[in-house]
Amino acid sequence: MPVAATELTREVVTRLVGAAVMAPSSHNSQPWIFRVRGRCIGVIADRTRALPANDPDDRELTLSCGCALFNMRVAAAHAGLGTRVYGPTGSSDPDCVARLELLADAAPEFVLGHLYEAIPRRRTYRRTFAERPIAGATLEALAAAANSEGAWFHVLQGDSQRRQAAELIAEGDDTQWADPVWRRELAAWMHPRRSGDGLTLPDLAVPLAQAVIRTFDMGHGVAARDVQLADASPVLAVLGTRGDDLASHVEAGQALQRTLLTACQHDLQASFLNQPIEISVLRMRLLQLAGQTGYPQMLLRLGYPDRELPAPPRRPPDAVIEFTSDAPPGTSC
Ligand SMILES: Cc1cc2nc3c(=O)[nH]c(=O)nc-3n(C[C@H](O)[C@H](O)[C@H](O)COP(=O)(O)O)c2cc1C
Repeated sequence: MPVAATELTREVVTRLVGAAVMAPSSHNSQPWIFRVRGRCIGVIADRTRALPANDPDDRELTLSCGCALFNMRVAAAHAGLGTRVYGPTGSSDPDCVARLELLADAAPEFVLGHLYEAIPRRRTYRRTFAERPIAGATLEALAAAANSEGAWFHVLQGDSQRRQAAELIAEGDDTQWADPVWRRELAAWMHPRRSGDGLTLPDLAVPLAQAVIRTFDMGHGVAARDVQLADASPVLAVLGTRGDDLASHVEAGQALQRTLLTACQHDLQASFLNQPIEISVLRMRLLQLAGQTGYPQMLLRLGYPDRELPAPPRRPPDAVIEFTSDAPPGTSC
């Protein structure tokens, strides 16, 4: 429902950030803070939530912030508010990856408003998908969604490409699970639901799962399961960008979220098999396999879910909003 506002009132900020926090993030780390200053919301990378073993360059951390930024654009459009996005340059804070300005005299991005209802429905769906193919026109809509945010979207074709991708995933699993530091970090993000973040398990299972993950290299078992998941997925696709700098990672996050929400509009869900992107030698092999130029940013499996999943936990908007008092409400970015 439209709200009549051209200023970032507390109500508008809560609405936009309420959408932002529903974005996906690696290990559900929610590595973001939203700093409100005048007519601007700065998306600040919260590096206290970084994953140095899984994501040493904070690439996925920035992507996650890009996903959250895109959700704010969708929520603004849905509320009838015009916005403009500024990239990382121009901010005095090196952790500010983007700024969203509310504009009184700009038209809302009407086409994005339709994605609003998909924000709470989107899930990372790690289960086997229904055996139902995805129509070519739907895949074209997903590629168009990624392209409109500056990214490419390549569907891996045929048994050979899919098999090679599955081999890269298995190799990535073996490497990551053999690394005790990587396993310890994963275990540290296994949280009970009440903590509001992390990868959830029932409360009683958390200590056990943490101990098992910390202690045992389960690489081969995980690799076998991931190969099976990849094989059985109606679609495996790579999303990538031309560059690999901070701005490209924000762009990739926005493109990812636009693709995921568009997928959800078509009743599809996705999950990620990013192991070959997280390990640099495998990332180049995946690029060759996709036959693209630039940098793979996400490896997705997509399909029709056969059940609804509960929403994973999130920290509430109030926990991640900072109001600064050094600028009057109308101040621009
Ligand atoms: C940049 C990024 C990387 C991710 N990598 C993986 C991954 O490699 N494997 C996986 O299972 N989920 C991955 N996820 C999904 C997150 O674990 C998921 O978003 C989080 O647990 C919250 O769940 P939700 O997406 O259902 O809201 C990734 C998400 C993002 C944004």
